[in-house]
Amino acid sequence: MNDINLKIKIGGLELKNPVMVASGTFGYGLESKDFFDLNRLGAIITKSLSLKPRIGNPPQRIVETPSGMLNAIGLANIGVENFIKEKLPELKKLDTKIIVNIAASSVDEYVECVKILNYEDIDAFEINVSCPNVKEGGLEFGRDLKKVGEITNKVVASTNKPVIIKLTPNVTYISQFAKVAKEEGATAVSAINTFVGMAVNIFTRRPKLSHNTGGLSGPAIKPLALAKVYEILQNVDIPVIGIGGITNSEDALEFLITGAKAIQVGTHNFVDPSAPVKIIDGIRDYLQKFGFNDINQIIGSLQVNQ
Ligand SMILES: Cc1cc2nc3c(=O)[nH]c(=O)nc-3n(C[C@H](O)[C@H](O)[C@H](O)COP(=O)(O)O)c2cc1C
Repeated sequence: MNDINLKIKIGGLELKNPVMVASGTFGYGLESKDFFDLNRLGAIITKSLSLKPRIGNPPQRIVETPSGMLNAIGLANIGVENFIKEKLPELKKLDTKIIVNIAASSVDEYVECVKILNYEDIDAFEINVSCPNVKEGGLEFGRDLKKVGEITNKVVASTNKPVIIKLTPNVTYISQFAKVAKEEGATAVSAINTFVGMAVNIFTRRPKLSHNTGGLSGPAIKPLALAKVYEILQNVDIPVIGIGGITNSEDALEFLITGAKAIQVGTHNFVDPSAPVKIIDGIRDYLQKFGFNDINQIIGSLQVNQ
């Protein structure tokens, strides 16, 4: 059983297994240390960090929905400098890859954050482009092909570490955004961030979230996320990290078989903080049961109906 290989490579980034924890659902990485041995994870992705600390949106910031949740946290975080001082020293002691997720309100802010972190002992950047472009009208960067290209280009030029662009699904063709990310030098794309959603309180006749709309995540979005990953892989030759509604090893395997090199567990961390290790064990059991000795044998093994 132990000779089953779970190692995967995303460009130059080698992970001990394909299971990561998704940004914003696992704090800064250490909050779940009492639930399981964090060294077992393929990688930890931090909460999105911005240049300066942000308090985020006022409550109500979270609403439960059928098979999912809406959140409008507003990228509350401690900022890059505090992260380096307060969180990174402990994170660095772990034997897992540390991927820092960056959020910003301008292209320059993305670059600045990456430059500050570039000399720190971290393994890669994940760039959250689902942030409002404050300088130019507030539209999310991630819905603007040119901006995603510009951010990727400038971030890649500012670091020697792998750059993963985390794509929003709130566009017509997500593969166009993956293509731009690849052309501008991204190592991989993460797909997907949350879908825009809304819930209304019929008694107050107000939106349940203070921000009116929020991001839908959880099992409700899994088939949608899988279709986005499939669309990217049909059209662009770039490593994809699958995210969206993954709760168990069967869900994870659906993404891996479709062709995702790795997966992230998000909302389900709130339901079962030890889910990521159960998923690692479940993937190993599946490989053993079906006679595989290497995870790479099943990645992209999907047989599409003609
Ligand atoms: C409460 C909450 C906070 C999140 N915060 C971030 C964040 O700071 N940065 C980011 O890139 N994604 C963030 N996400 C999105 C998740 O990382 C993930 O892409 C999304 O929730 C879909 O996966 P899931 O269905 O497994 O949760 C957040 C999601 C939730 C539920």
